[in-house]
Amino acid sequence: MSKKEYFVAKENDILEGGSVAVQAGSRIIAVFRVQGKFYAILNRCLHKGGSLCDGTVETDRKIVRCPWHLWDWSLETGHLEAYPRKRMLVFDVRVVDGEVFLKA
Ligand code: FES
Repeated sequence: MSKKEYFVAKENDILEGGSVAVQAGSRIIAVFRVQGKFYAILNRCLHKGGSLCDGTVETDRKIVRCPWHLWDWSLETGHLEAYPRKRMLVFDVRVVDGEVFLKA
C-alpha cells in the first residue's frame, strides 16, 4: 500500500517539546518537535491506548512518556525504553517551506 502525505501544521505553530495530533486516514498520529526536529508516532499507546500527544516529552532523551502508566517510548525508533522488543509505529516527517508533513 502506498503512503499518503498529510499536512500537520506550520512549523512555527509546534513549540519545542510540544506536539499535535493529526488524523491520517484511519489513524491518529502524534507529531512532536524535539531539538528543532519533528518526530511522528502512532498516538495510541500500545499498552492500553493512552494518548501519547498528551504525554510528557523528555527532549534530551527524545522520548515521550505515556500519560496513563508512564511507559517511555523513543520518538526516534518507536521502541519501548524498558523493553525494546515492543515498538510503536513511527512515521517520516518532512518540512517544506515552513510547513510540516508526515507520510503514513
Ligand atoms: S496506556 Fe500507555 S503506558 Fe499504559
